[in-house]
Amino acid sequence: MTVQTLSTIGELQAAADAARVAGKHIALVPTMGALHKGHISLIERARSMADVVVTSIFVNPAQFGPQEDFEKYPRDLVRDSAQAQAAGTDILFTPDVAVMYPRGFQTYIDNNRLATILEGLERPGHFRGVTTVVTKLFNIVRPHLAFFGQKDYQQALVIRQMVKDLHLEVKIVTVPTVRDPDGLAVSSRNAYLLAHERQAARVLNQSLLIGREMILGGERDARRIQSQLEAYIKKEPLARIEYVSISNPQTLQEVQKIEGKTLIALVVWIGKTRLIDNIIVRQS
Ligand code: PAJ
Repeated sequence: MTVQTLSTIGELQAAADAARVAGKHIALVPTMGALHKGHISLIERARSMADVVVTSIFVNPAQFGPQEDFEKYPRDLVRDSAQAQAAGTDILFTPDVAVMYPRGFQTYIDNNRLATILEGLERPGHFRGVTTVVTKLFNIVRPHLAFFGQKDYQQALVIRQMVKDLHLEVKIVTVPTVRDPDGLAVSSRNAYLLAHERQAARVLNQSLLIGREMILGGERDARRIQSQLEAYIKKEPLARIEYVSISNPQTLQEVQKIEGKTLIALVVWIGKTRLIDNIIVRQS
Protein backbone atom coordinates (compact mmCIF):
# COMPACT_ATOMS: atom_id res chain seq x y z
CA MET A 1 0.00 0.00 0.00
CA THR A 2 1.32 3.44 -0.80
CA VAL A 3 1.59 5.97 1.94
CA GLN A 4 -1.09 8.66 2.03
CA THR A 5 0.54 12.07 2.43
CA LEU A 6 -1.64 14.73 4.05
CA SER A 7 -0.80 18.28 4.97
CA THR A 8 -3.96 19.86 6.34
CA ILE A 9 -5.60 19.35 9.72
CA GLY A 10 -8.99 18.61 8.17
CA GLU A 11 -7.69 15.82 5.93
CA LEU A 12 -5.83 14.17 8.78
CA GLN A 13 -8.79 14.44 11.15
CA ALA A 14 -11.08 12.90 8.53
CA ALA A 15 -8.68 10.02 7.82
CA ALA A 16 -8.14 9.31 11.53
CA ASP A 17 -11.88 9.57 12.29
CA ALA A 18 -12.68 7.09 9.50
CA ALA A 19 -10.11 4.62 10.85
CA ARG A 20 -11.43 4.99 14.41
CA VAL A 21 -15.04 4.50 13.35
CA ALA A 22 -13.96 1.35 11.48
CA GLY A 23 -12.64 0.03 14.82
CA LYS A 24 -8.98 0.35 13.90
CA HIS A 25 -6.23 0.94 16.43
CA ILE A 26 -4.30 4.09 15.56
CA ALA A 27 -0.63 4.74 16.36
CA LEU A 28 1.07 8.12 16.12
CA VAL A 29 4.82 8.59 15.66
CA PRO A 30 5.69 12.29 15.95
CA THR A 31 9.00 13.27 14.31
CA MET A 32 10.80 16.28 12.90
CA GLY A 33 11.93 14.32 9.84
CA ALA A 34 15.46 13.64 8.57
CA LEU A 35 14.43 10.09 9.38
CA HIS A 36 17.07 7.65 10.58
CA LYS A 37 17.25 4.20 12.19
CA GLY A 38 15.92 5.57 15.49
CA HIS A 39 12.76 6.93 13.89
CA ILE A 40 12.40 3.76 11.83
CA SER A 41 12.43 1.60 14.96
CA LEU A 42 9.58 3.74 16.37
CA ILE A 43 7.56 3.33 13.17
CA GLU A 44 8.22 -0.41 13.04
CA ARG A 45 7.20 -0.79 16.65
CA ALA A 46 4.03 1.20 15.94
CA ARG A 47 3.36 -1.02 12.91
CA SER A 48 3.60 -4.12 15.09
CA MET A 49 1.13 -2.76 17.66
CA ALA A 50 -1.55 -0.92 15.66
CA ASP A 51 -3.71 -1.15 12.52
CA VAL A 52 -3.03 2.35 11.22
CA VAL A 53 0.31 4.13 11.62
CA VAL A 54 0.39 7.91 11.35
CA THR A 55 3.87 9.44 11.14
CA SER A 56 4.14 13.20 11.42
CA ILE A 57 7.04 15.21 10.04
CA PHE A 58 7.09 18.73 11.32
CA VAL A 59 10.09 20.82 12.34
CA ASN A 60 8.35 22.58 15.19
CA PRO A 61 9.53 26.19 15.55
CA ALA A 62 7.99 26.48 19.04
CA GLN A 63 10.58 24.10 20.54
CA PHE A 64 13.68 25.85 19.15
CA GLY A 65 15.34 28.72 20.99
CA PRO A 66 16.20 31.91 19.07
CA GLN A 67 19.88 30.91 18.80
CA GLU A 68 19.14 27.30 17.85
CA ASP A 69 19.22 25.43 14.55
CA PHE A 70 15.57 25.72 13.37
CA GLU A 71 16.60 27.20 10.01
CA LYS A 72 19.39 24.77 9.27
CA TYR A 73 17.66 21.67 10.71
CA PRO A 74 17.96 18.96 7.99
CA ARG A 75 14.85 18.59 5.81
CA ASP A 76 14.40 15.98 3.06
CA LEU A 77 10.76 15.11 2.51
CA VAL A 78 11.26 12.92 -0.56
CA ARG A 79 13.71 10.63 1.20
CA ASP A 80 11.71 10.71 4.46
CA SER A 81 8.54 9.75 2.67
CA ALA A 82 10.14 6.67 1.09
CA GLN A 83 11.69 5.63 4.42
CA ALA A 84 8.50 6.18 6.41
CA GLN A 85 6.55 4.12 3.92
CA ALA A 86 9.10 1.28 3.87
CA ALA A 87 8.93 1.10 7.68
CA GLY A 88 5.15 0.73 7.64
CA THR A 89 3.60 4.21 7.75
CA ASP A 90 0.05 4.43 6.39
CA ILE A 91 -0.45 8.17 6.74
CA LEU A 92 2.32 10.74 6.57
CA PHE A 93 1.41 14.14 7.99
CA THR A 94 3.57 16.99 6.68
CA PRO A 95 1.97 20.30 7.66
CA ASP A 96 3.45 23.75 7.05
CA VAL A 97 4.19 26.03 9.98
CA ALA A 98 1.17 28.17 9.05
CA VAL A 99 -1.08 25.11 9.32
CA MET A 100 0.11 24.21 12.83
CA TYR A 101 0.53 27.79 14.04
CA PRO A 102 -1.89 30.00 12.10
CA ARG A 103 -1.79 33.75 12.64
CA GLY A 104 -3.19 34.56 16.08
CA PHE A 105 -2.07 31.29 17.70
CA GLN A 106 -1.52 31.93 21.43
CA THR A 107 -2.28 28.89 23.59
CA TYR A 108 0.49 26.69 24.98
CA ILE A 109 0.75 23.63 27.19
CA ASP A 110 3.28 24.04 29.95
CA ASN A 111 4.86 21.71 32.48
CA ASN A 112 6.14 23.21 35.67
CA ARG A 113 8.70 20.98 37.21
CA LEU A 114 10.03 18.15 35.02
CA ALA A 115 10.34 20.56 32.10
CA THR A 116 12.38 23.15 33.94
CA ILE A 117 15.38 21.01 34.89
CA LEU A 118 18.15 19.47 32.77
CA GLU A 119 17.15 20.09 29.13
CA GLY A 120 14.52 22.57 30.32
CA LEU A 121 17.13 24.61 32.17
CA GLU A 122 19.49 24.67 29.23
CA ARG A 123 16.77 25.22 26.63
CA PRO A 124 14.11 27.48 28.20
CA GLY A 125 10.72 27.02 26.54
CA HIS A 126 11.84 23.88 24.69
CA PHE A 127 9.45 21.47 26.39
CA ARG A 128 6.61 23.98 26.21
CA GLY A 129 7.03 23.83 22.44
CA VAL A 130 7.19 20.02 22.51
CA THR A 131 4.16 19.50 24.75
CA THR A 132 2.15 22.03 22.76
CA VAL A 133 2.81 20.46 19.38
CA VAL A 134 2.38 16.91 20.70
CA THR A 135 -0.97 17.84 22.28
CA LYS A 136 -2.09 19.38 19.01
CA LEU A 137 -1.14 16.18 17.17
CA PHE A 138 -2.91 14.07 19.81
CA ASN A 139 -6.05 16.18 19.39
CA ILE A 140 -6.02 15.95 15.61
CA VAL A 141 -5.30 12.22 15.35
CA ARG A 142 -6.70 11.01 18.70
CA PRO A 143 -4.35 7.99 18.55
CA HIS A 144 -4.66 4.99 20.84
CA LEU A 145 -0.87 4.73 21.05
CA ALA A 146 1.99 7.20 20.62
CA PHE A 147 5.67 6.34 20.31
CA PHE A 148 8.68 8.17 21.71
CA GLY A 149 12.38 7.32 21.94
CA GLN A 150 14.36 6.65 25.08
CA LYS A 151 17.11 8.78 23.56
CA ASP A 152 15.11 11.83 24.58
CA TYR A 153 14.33 10.35 27.96
CA GLN A 154 13.20 13.58 29.58
CA GLN A 155 10.91 14.37 26.65
CA ALA A 156 9.15 11.00 27.01
CA LEU A 157 8.82 11.58 30.76
CA VAL A 158 7.38 15.08 30.33
CA ILE A 159 4.86 13.73 27.80
CA ARG A 160 3.85 10.87 30.09
CA GLN A 161 3.28 13.36 32.89
CA MET A 162 1.22 15.61 30.62
CA VAL A 163 -0.93 12.67 29.48
CA LYS A 164 -1.57 11.81 33.12
CA ASP A 165 -2.20 15.37 34.28
CA LEU A 166 -4.55 16.23 31.41
CA HIS A 167 -6.36 12.84 31.34
CA LEU A 168 -5.43 12.29 27.71
CA GLU A 169 -6.61 8.99 26.32
CA VAL A 170 -3.42 7.77 24.71
CA LYS A 171 -0.91 5.13 25.74
CA ILE A 172 2.70 6.27 25.54
CA VAL A 173 5.20 3.65 24.38
CA THR A 174 8.91 4.34 24.87
CA VAL A 175 11.30 2.64 22.43
CA PRO A 176 14.97 1.86 23.27
CA THR A 177 17.74 4.05 21.86
CA VAL A 178 19.07 2.89 18.50
CA ARG A 179 22.84 3.24 18.18
CA ASP A 180 25.42 3.04 15.42
CA PRO A 181 27.77 0.03 15.69
CA ASP A 182 30.32 2.15 17.60
CA GLY A 183 27.72 3.12 20.19
CA LEU A 184 26.84 6.66 19.06
CA ALA A 185 23.09 7.21 19.44
CA VAL A 186 21.71 7.93 15.99
CA SER A 187 20.36 11.46 15.67
CA SER A 188 19.36 13.85 12.90
CA ARG A 189 21.99 16.22 14.26
CA ASN A 190 24.79 13.65 13.65
CA ALA A 191 24.55 14.85 10.03
CA TYR A 192 26.27 18.07 11.16
CA LEU A 193 29.40 16.19 12.32
CA LEU A 194 32.57 16.26 10.23
CA ALA A 195 34.46 12.95 9.99
CA HIS A 196 36.89 13.69 12.84
CA GLU A 197 34.03 15.03 14.99
CA ARG A 198 32.08 11.85 14.35
CA GLN A 199 34.99 9.91 15.89
CA ALA A 200 35.09 12.26 18.87
CA ALA A 201 31.32 11.88 19.40
CA ARG A 202 31.86 8.31 20.58
CA VAL A 203 32.88 9.83 23.91
CA LEU A 204 29.20 10.24 24.88
CA ASN A 205 28.31 6.56 24.82
CA GLN A 206 31.73 5.54 26.11
CA SER A 207 31.36 7.71 29.19
CA LEU A 208 27.85 6.36 29.85
CA LEU A 209 29.26 2.84 29.74
CA ILE A 210 31.97 3.83 32.22
CA GLY A 211 29.24 5.14 34.53
CA ARG A 212 27.34 1.91 34.18
CA GLU A 213 30.46 -0.16 34.97
CA MET A 214 31.12 1.95 38.06
CA ILE A 215 27.58 1.41 39.37
CA LEU A 216 27.59 -2.29 38.56
CA GLY A 217 31.02 -2.51 40.22
CA GLY A 218 29.50 -1.21 43.46
CA GLU A 219 30.22 2.53 43.36
CA ARG A 220 27.47 4.33 45.29
CA ASP A 221 28.77 7.89 45.35
CA ALA A 222 27.07 9.80 42.52
CA ARG A 223 29.52 12.75 42.72
CA ARG A 224 32.45 10.40 42.20
CA ILE A 225 30.81 8.88 39.14
CA GLN A 226 29.97 12.30 37.77
CA SER A 227 33.52 13.60 38.16
CA GLN A 228 35.02 10.47 36.58
CA LEU A 229 32.73 10.83 33.58
CA GLU A 230 33.52 14.52 33.25
CA ALA A 231 37.25 13.82 33.45
CA TYR A 232 36.90 11.15 30.77
CA ILE A 233 34.96 13.44 28.42
CA LYS A 234 37.39 16.31 28.96
CA LYS A 235 40.20 14.14 27.59
CA GLU A 236 38.53 14.51 24.19
CA PRO A 237 39.73 17.89 22.88
CA LEU A 238 36.69 18.44 20.59
CA ALA A 239 34.19 17.82 23.40
CA ARG A 240 32.63 20.47 25.63
CA ILE A 241 30.38 19.32 28.48
CA GLU A 242 27.04 21.07 28.94
CA TYR A 243 25.87 18.75 31.70
CA VAL A 244 26.44 15.31 33.16
CA SER A 245 23.59 14.45 35.48
CA ILE A 246 23.03 11.48 37.74
CA SER A 247 19.42 11.38 38.83
CA ASN A 248 16.33 9.48 39.81
CA PRO A 249 14.70 8.33 36.53
CA GLN A 250 11.19 9.15 37.82
CA THR A 251 11.76 12.62 39.27
CA LEU A 252 14.98 13.67 37.48
CA GLN A 253 16.20 14.95 40.85
CA GLU A 254 19.96 14.57 41.15
CA VAL A 255 20.99 11.92 43.66
CA GLN A 256 23.94 11.74 46.06
CA LYS A 257 23.77 8.02 46.63
CA ILE A 258 23.08 5.37 43.99
CA GLU A 259 20.02 3.32 44.91
CA GLY A 260 17.73 1.22 42.69
CA LYS A 261 17.50 2.61 39.17
CA THR A 262 19.70 5.54 38.16
CA LEU A 263 19.54 7.77 35.09
CA ILE A 264 22.83 9.05 33.73
CA ALA A 265 22.00 11.80 31.24
CA LEU A 266 24.41 14.05 29.43
CA VAL A 267 24.74 16.73 26.83
CA VAL A 268 28.08 17.24 25.15
CA TRP A 269 28.95 19.61 22.35
CA ILE A 270 31.25 18.27 19.67
CA GLY A 271 32.41 21.35 17.82
CA LYS A 272 29.23 23.24 16.94
CA THR A 273 26.93 20.24 17.39
CA ARG A 274 24.93 19.60 20.55
CA LEU A 275 24.53 15.88 21.27
CA ILE A 276 22.36 14.22 23.93
CA ASP A 277 22.42 10.71 25.35
CA ASN A 278 21.44 8.76 28.45
CA ILE A 279 21.41 5.36 30.03
CA ILE A 280 19.42 3.82 32.86
CA VAL A 281 21.35 1.54 35.17
CA ARG A 282 19.76 -0.80 37.64
CA GLN A 283 21.91 -1.43 40.67
CA SER A 284 22.59 -5.18 40.77
P1 PAJ B 1 12.85 13.98 16.60
O1 PAJ B 1 14.12 14.47 17.15
O2 PAJ B 1 12.68 13.89 15.11
O3 PAJ B 1 12.57 12.58 17.22
C1 PAJ B 1 11.37 11.90 16.97
C2 PAJ B 1 11.30 10.69 17.88
O4 PAJ B 1 12.37 9.79 17.56
C3 PAJ B 1 11.48 11.08 19.37
O5 PAJ B 1 10.55 10.34 20.15
C4 PAJ B 1 12.91 10.67 19.63
O6 PAJ B 1 13.15 10.33 21.00
C5 PAJ B 1 13.04 9.44 18.75
N1 PAJ B 1 14.45 9.14 18.48
C6 PAJ B 1 15.40 9.97 18.01
N2 PAJ B 1 16.59 9.35 17.95
C7 PAJ B 1 16.39 8.09 18.39
C8 PAJ B 1 17.23 6.95 18.59
N3 PAJ B 1 18.53 6.97 18.28
N4 PAJ B 1 16.67 5.83 19.07
C9 PAJ B 1 15.34 5.78 19.39
N5 PAJ B 1 14.49 6.81 19.23
C10 PAJ B 1 15.02 7.95 18.74
O7 PAJ B 1 11.80 14.46 19.35
C11 PAJ B 1 11.33 15.12 18.44
O8 PAJ B 1 11.62 14.90 17.11
C12 PAJ B 1 10.34 16.25 18.68
O9 PAJ B 1 10.60 16.84 19.93
C13 PAJ B 1 8.87 15.81 18.58
C14 PAJ B 1 8.52 14.77 19.65
C15 PAJ B 1 8.55 15.27 17.19
C16 PAJ B 1 7.96 17.05 18.83
O10 PAJ B 1 8.20 18.03 17.89
